[in-house]
Amino acid sequence: TEGLITLDRGFKNTGSCESAITFLDGEKGILRYRGYAIENLAENATFLEVAYLLIFGELPTETELDSFHADIKKESHVDEEMKKILDGFPKSAHPMGVVSSLTSALIAFNPSSVNVDSKEDMYQAIVKLLAKFPVICAWALRKSKGQPFDYGDNKLSYVDNVLKMMFKKPNEDYEVDPVVSSALNKLLILHADHEQNCSTSTVRIVGSSHAGLFASISAGVSALWGPLHGGANQAVIDMLEGIKEDGGDTKKYMAKAKDKDDPFRLMGFGHRVYKNFDPRAKIIKKSADEVLGNLGVQDPVLDIAKGLEKEALEDDYFVKRKLYPNVDFYSGIIYRALDIPTNMFTVMFALGRLPGWIAQWREMRLMKEPIGRPRQVYTGETHREMKPIEKR
Ligand code: SDX
Repeated sequence: TEGLITLDRGFKNTGSCESAITFLDGEKGILRYRGYAIENLAENATFLEVAYLLIFGELPTETELDSFHADIKKESHVDEEMKKILDGFPKSAHPMGVVSSLTSALIAFNPSSVNVDSKEDMYQAIVKLLAKFPVICAWALRKSKGQPFDYGDNKLSYVDNVLKMMFKKPNEDYEVDPVVSSALNKLLILHADHEQNCSTSTVRIVGSSHAGLFASISAGVSALWGPLHGGANQAVIDMLEGIKEDGGDTKKYMAKAKDKDDPFRLMGFGHRVYKNFDPRAKIIKKSADEVLGNLGVQDPVLDIAKGLEKEALEDDYFVKRKLYPNVDFYSGIIYRALDIPTNMFTVMFALGRLPGWIAQWREMRLMKEPIGRPRQVYTGETHREMKPIEKR
């Protein structure tokens, strides 16, 4: 502490705001959205119901949900010019970079979404983004596959429309598999919000300058991309594949994870808040067995993942540091079973987190939070006089 400045690297012990949206108890492994346990919502709600709950604070009546969905459907197209921006990317572009860029590009085609002060103006910007963001995400996948940028079908549910936009092949019908639909619905609900994590804090701080909703969410997508955050779900599968290729010797990798000189980190393990278990990981692990079973998919990396978890639970390096599987550890195994390519896993995380980001942005703006501007502890040079270049 220097004067009134308390240094708190990574904001490990800093509360940045008051919020009524999501409650976490890291010791007890509790996660609730507006007071509802995620275990209950994941089993019984639709993702759009949970989006409404997070954003507006209450579970919707049937009329409210239908009207919300109708407003979203009205906005579920993007300007054709957006395809020219997509055309500019190489097929190899990482979908998270495409999604972040196109979310920002949406501003140019929806200028009224920038200066929103009234609840009504915010609502219009919110339904626009909830409608157009999935299109962008699906088109990022189609771009990587060289497929035309198509729409889904507004007669379908929000989640089924996402699946159709992602997977409908040209000149072929696409029927949504109920197993796939329910698996994705559950995964999106489990990712929907998580209080002041890195990407949500990014959305809040960008939004606190009144940069507008789309710009704030674009920044949140970029923050989520990092392998220490949402990018971990892709890094987990790359890690598990590497262990499988290397003969499946999990003990060797556990040793690497504990070796201070080895940069290898067990991806999908550990959490800033959860110090016992991540309740989402428990649900996703159970769902992985069910979904792969229902789809008749055998994935050897699931057994490797379970082996790593078992060993970590018995290893005092991990137990002492309270390192347990987090939301990213098993989710990629389900995404893969749903034929979602590895580099799209973090886009799926962003699709799930979108309503949470929106809810947090809206709360920040309605509470008229001040612009975020932390201080620092200065450790640089004291005052110096400039020398002319010939004398340096
Ligand atoms: C998400 O915040 C959220 O809520 C995020 C999220 C959400 O829903 O928004 O839950 C989603 O981002 C989940 C986390 C995904 N990331 C990973 O799986 C990447 C691997 N995990 C770590 O990098 C790490 O655990 C973090 C980033 C998740 C948490 O980092 P912290 O809280 O800053 O902890 P730390 O890096 O200071 O580690 C504490 C100790 C260290 O050892 P010591 O220096 O004390 O000896 O634990 C060790 C670390 O070396 N450690 C690990 C480890 N994670 C921490 N050692 C091996 N493998 C790991 N995965």
